[in-house]
Amino acid sequence: MRIVCLGGGPAGLYFAITMKLKNPDHEIVVVERNRPDDTFGWGVVLSDETLENLARNDPESAAAIRAHFAYWDDIAVSYRGTRTVSSGHGFCGIGRRTLLLLLQARARELGVELRFQTEVENAADYADKFDLVVAADGLNSRVRREFADQFNPEIDVRKCKFVWLGTHQKFDDAFTFIFEETEHGWVWAHAYQFDDDTATFIVECAEETWQKFGFGAMSQQESIAICERIFRDHLDGHPLMTNAHHIRGSAWISFPRVLCERWHYKNIVLLGDAAATAHFSIGSGTKLALESAVALANYVESEPTLEAAFEKYEDERRVQVLRLQSAARNSMEWFEEVERYFDLDPVQFNYSLLTRSQRISHENLRLRDRRWLESAEAWFQQRAGTPANVVRRPMFAPFQLRDLRLKNRVVVSPMDQYKAVDGCPTDWHFVHYGERAKGGAGLLYIEMTCVSAQGRITPGCTGLYAPEHEVAWKRIVDFVHRETEARICCQLGHSGAKGSTQLGWEEMDAPLPAGNWPLISASAIPWSPKNQVPRAMTRADMDRVTAEFVSAAEMADRAGFDMLELHAAHGYLLSSFITPITNDRTDEYGGSLENRMRYSLEVFHAVRKVWPEEKPISVRISAHDWVGDRGVMPAEAVEIARILQAEGVDICNVSAGQTSRQAKPVYGRMFQTPFSDRIRNETGMATMAVGNIYEPDHVNSILMAGRADLVCLARPHLSDPYWTLHAAAALGDHEEAWPEPYWPGRDQLWRLAERGETSGMKV
Ligand SMILES: Cc1cc2nc3c(=O)[nH]c(=O)nc-3n(C[C@H](O)[C@H](O)[C@H](O)COP(=O)(O)OP(=O)(O)OC[C@H]3O[C@@H](n4cnc5c(N)ncnc54)[C@H](O)[C@@H]3O)c2cc1C
Ligand SMILES: Cc1cc2nc3c(=O)[nH]c(=O)nc-3n(C[C@H](O)[C@H](O)[C@H](O)COP(=O)(O)O)c2cc1C
Repeated sequence: MRIVCLGGGPAGLYFAITMKLKNPDHEIVVVERNRPDDTFGWGVVLSDETLENLARNDPESAAAIRAHFAYWDDIAVSYRGTRTVSSGHGFCGIGRRTLLLLLQARARELGVELRFQTEVENAADYADKFDLVVAADGLNSRVRREFADQFNPEIDVRKCKFVWLGTHQKFDDAFTFIFEETEHGWVWAHAYQFDDDTATFIVECAEETWQKFGFGAMSQQESIAICERIFRDHLDGHPLMTNAHHIRGSAWISFPRVLCERWHYKNIVLLGDAAATAHFSIGSGTKLALESAVALANYVESEPTLEAAFEKYEDERRVQVLRLQSAARNSMEWFEEVERYFDLDPVQFNYSLLTRSQRISHENLRLRDRRWLESAEAWFQQRAGTPANVVRRPMFAPFQLRDLRLKNRVVVSPMDQYKAVDGCPTDWHFVHYGERAKGGAGLLYIEMTCVSAQGRITPGCTGLYAPEHEVAWKRIVDFVHRETEARICCQLGHSGAKGSTQLGWEEMDAPLPAGNWPLISASAIPWSPKNQVPRAMTRADMDRVTAEFVSAAEMADRAGFDMLELHAAHGYLLSSFITPITNDRTDEYGGSLENRMRYSLEVFHAVRKVWPEEKPISVRISAHDWVGDRGVMPAEAVEIARILQAEGVDICNVSAGQTSRQAKPVYGRMFQTPFSDRIRNETGMATMAVGNIYEPDHVNSILMAGRADLVCLARPHLSDPYWTLHAAAALGDHEEAWPEPYWPGRDQLWRLAERGETSGMKV
């Protein structure tokens, strides 16, 4: 087969090598615009695992690469005068120039023709002359542009600016991140050694900072001089160096995240950065390029046609690329938003940095560096007011809001049971909540409890609008207080336009077959064409509903609830005012955010007046309507939280969605936690995170990284009322109190856990 690789970077060279190894009869040419040894850039990071994969493919080049590896195990973070070091991270680096020279030598030895200083102008010419054209021409691939209609690339140019520099200053003891505050904002460096006397030194900052410095208009030497000044305390007088002399201007760039919809066209196939990129902060671009080259070569050899080979290559590699791009996106976004974290204590900042890609879990950090993680856990506990030297997971740290003290950070999220009769909780509720209170969570929510019969979602919803409701709730609350250490929160709500619908397990949000009651909402906008059109609330409606909230809050207090939450999320009445999708009012309750918040605040203030001073109030919000900028977006959610905070709300329970049938949520593990993170770290308000959080590790990492103060789990508590006690047992934590009658069960579980049998709980 006659093969040409357009581009002699790691991808093109390694594909050529692999094909020659498979069949020396292939005629292979690599066309590269540069000279053999004028590679730009400095070092790249690989891992031992990648090298093992390469060794299986070609032991010779793998051995040559390994012989030139610089290894390091530590990550150091310099921030606010503190240098924090953690171990066990295991990286290796190699100079990009060395890597390419080794690959060039190996390719030559195998009979590959290397044509340097040859610019590829037009891939179509090569496609006529060769059987197979591998477009490995990198990030700014010309071939990708030439056939853009076929490959349909999505190119997302990111927010930060960076420049790839080198230095002879030693960073040989650790991969080092350095954060420096300057007169124009924060600037940071990613530094790592890649041979005996040279280190990569990537300088990065927000575009705004870059503009203020005027880096864009400077020569490379001018911007280097400024970077040397910024990082002088870390450079010991060593200069920063560029090897991008071929680039005119400043050499700063914005990272383009590339993903092509299709990777092949006729006999042309994209490889490496030309097909997809992964942000440099997780150091995986070269790994992806090399491993994709192996996969492509394997399929070209094994499949009967190029088309079949390309299909299989694309199927296999797309999954890997998406996985790495997802981790890379998390990492990249962390750096893009890093200014949000600059108020964190260095311990928490370091933890947040180490877990930024979400590939490293809490327990995985323990395996890497137990001593460091335990010191971080001790710091967390101490901040929570635990006596000194207690080392326990963050989920078992106490939390205080006003006079309410929670024994741990796990919350049973509110979940409607649809089992009430005329608003009155039944034995179902007594048993259901009793069980969950015994299960170990620090805080137990009851379901959205409605302030009037008309305000119920379904005929099965609970209420607090009749004396018998108060009595029934009091029985439950008394049991919780008498028999457990859990505290109990009453969520009060009004269903608005989503009322008068069927039970959760019937047709959700659909009107009742008979006996519907009239609805009110911010505006006369029905939930769906099937649902009733609600009446837009009048002033009299507002006053009446406010009074109902007040009366329900008074009952909740008499029933003994420890905390109150106003449900202003998920499209119910208060939420219908806040989100612009369901609020088209032209009075002072519609339009600006201030106006849309007005009614919820009126209710809050009225309730606050009757709710005892020592007990906290929370508000649950939908931080994202998932309908683009027609609805609430996370940035506006920060403003919502700021308003709540300024008005005296104690904690924001950050949920999302369920406000529109057009919503397109992006689901995933902990998918709503970023909204809590943003609110907490941009406003300083206490938050609760919720949404697809189901492992103890999720809870611990959210808390330790400062992404929330409390963590709500809903569905996990339906399948396991004892989620917290089971988590504690699985983690080997024996401090959580079990009810006395259950001690024999507890002891057995502890023994089983010691033997690694954790009854399905993943830790
Ligand atoms: C700042 C920074 C730091 C990075 N750090 C790491 C890291 O630590 N670890 C890691 O794995 N990856 C890292 N990467 C990414 C890594 O460099 C790339 O992912 C990797 O080089 C991709 O290999 P490639 O062969 O696809 O593309 P490239 O390495 O870009 O190679 C493409 C080649 O094609 C040539 N070429 C382009 N156009 C033409 C043309 N028209 N005619 C002829 N030749 C042409 C180029 O000269 C180049 O040699 C980093 C990238 C950046 C920007
Ligand atoms: C059966 C069920 C009922 C729910 N009822 C309520 C409710 O009454 N009030 C509320 O704010 N959220 C309610 N939710 C949402 C949960 O509190 C939680 O936000 C959501 O389920 C995501 O958390 P999870 O992934 O841990 O389940 C309910 C969820 C479920 C599964």
